[in-house]
Amino acid sequence: MRVSASRVVVALAVAIVAVVAWQRWPASPPKWTPVEVAMLRSLWIESLPELPPDPSNAVADSTIAAKFGEQLFFDTRLSSNGGISCATCHQPERRFTDGLQKGQAIGTTGRHTPSIVGTAYSPWQYWDGRRDSQWSQALVPLEDPDEHGTDRAQVVNLIAQDETYRATYESLFGELPDPASSDRVMLNTAFANIGKSIAAFERLVMPTPSRFDEYVRAVVDQDAGSQQRLFDDDEVRGLKLFIGEANCTQCHNGPLFTNHEFHNTGVISFPGDVPDKARVAGVREVLRNEFNCLGIYSDDVEHRCAELQFTRTGSTLTGAVKTPSLRNLENTAPFMHKGQIPTIAEVLQHYNEAPDAMIGHNEAIPLGLSARQLHQLEVFLGTLAAPVAGLSGADGILVEN
Ligand code: HEC
Ligand code: HEC
Repeated sequence: MRVSASRVVVALAVAIVAVVAWQRWPASPPKWTPVEVAMLRSLWIESLPELPPDPSNAVADSTIAAKFGEQLFFDTRLSSNGGISCATCHQPERRFTDGLQKGQAIGTTGRHTPSIVGTAYSPWQYWDGRRDSQWSQALVPLEDPDEHGTDRAQVVNLIAQDETYRATYESLFGELPDPASSDRVMLNTAFANIGKSIAAFERLVMPTPSRFDEYVRAVVDQDAGSQQRLFDDDEVRGLKLFIGEANCTQCHNGPLFTNHEFHNTGVISFPGDVPDKARVAGVREVLRNEFNCLGIYSDDVEHRCAELQFTRTGSTLTGAVKTPSLRNLENTAPFMHKGQIPTIAEVLQHYNEAPDAMIGHNEAIPLGLSARQLHQLEVFLGTLAAPVAGLSGADGILVEN
């Protein structure tokens, strides 16, 4: 059989075009199994349920309380030296962290400043979960000598002296008690109400959709073109590792990339630092805290405090800290509960080696991933960056909710 020269040329041309196309889009379109798609959906911001009500805080969803709380969050008069506010350490432009190993205000705190973005979803506050609501948490830094260094009487006094604050407070909670009053319960109630307003503000500070979320939309819609446009090959492979071989979703799961639970991941202590007992001590503290969900300052008269009543206790929690969200890691270095690890690359190296814990038992197991795979995980984590929603925009950095 004779084959004409022109046919050979055409066939060769077709072959070359096919090879070039294959090389340009080798991963096209990445195949996700139904199980993987279900996992991607579970991490999707669109799977985030509506924020559950907080029965312990009667003003949790009041807009007036949230605006009041926002003002208090940024007000440096709530401190012994007139220079410290919550935003000294939880800086909006750093996604509500401070760039330091350990929080610093009047003194230096014992741990690293975590982000507050999305933490209203967490039943526990602090790395060791020693508070069970954001309103009871907000009271602690105000009186901590290393943080705001003030006290409840002075805080209530400030509200009493500031006409606008006083009017807002009284419209929400009724008459403000005399700050000099010796009635401890009255003073504590007013103090708790201030925490409840700050918590109403924090309930609005939420992550917004990231490039990862757009990618999941494209996977769900089976839109191969958008998948390719949104994620490069390394990002796809990093995501596959994250939900597969690297086992990250054992703890960093759900739309906020945290199970809100406590785990020991063997993070080393700084030389000279006593290893942190963390949750094993935190759980004892929250159970006896007078501002907890079961206490008299809680608005939950029916005491539906299941988290607190059924929480795990015991020595397996030694050295266990709360799993942080992985949304918005950009601009939040250093990492971990004492800011021990300066970069994401080093965090991943830590997981790869999974050293023995200094206290308790490291739950993570060594991964043995290659440098290339660690890089892929890192670029995938970068796709989770997105603006924060929630502020009324004093600094113009954040978008409206
Ligand atoms: C000196 C810096 C500093 C100041 C000021 C400060 N914080 Fe913090 N914040 C921290 C540190 C450090 C932690 C973690 C401490 C720990 O876990 O032991 C923290 C933890 C938190 C958490 C828990 C987040 C989570 O995921 O568990 C919230 C919420 C929070 N702070 C809100 C506030 C509010 C509200 C104020 C003002 C009333 C405030 N902070 C003032 C440094 C600060
Ligand atoms: C056994 C549960 C568990 C597993 C598995 C796990 N993590 Fe974590 N992760 C945590 C806890 C708990 C912390 C906080 C540890 C600390 O502060 O000491 C953390 C912290 C982090 C941080 C630092 C965040 C910050 O804001 O400080 C990153 C990044 C991170 N993990 C990524 C990953 C990746 C990627 C994987 C998979 C390779 C992974 N984690 C696997 C529980 C886990």
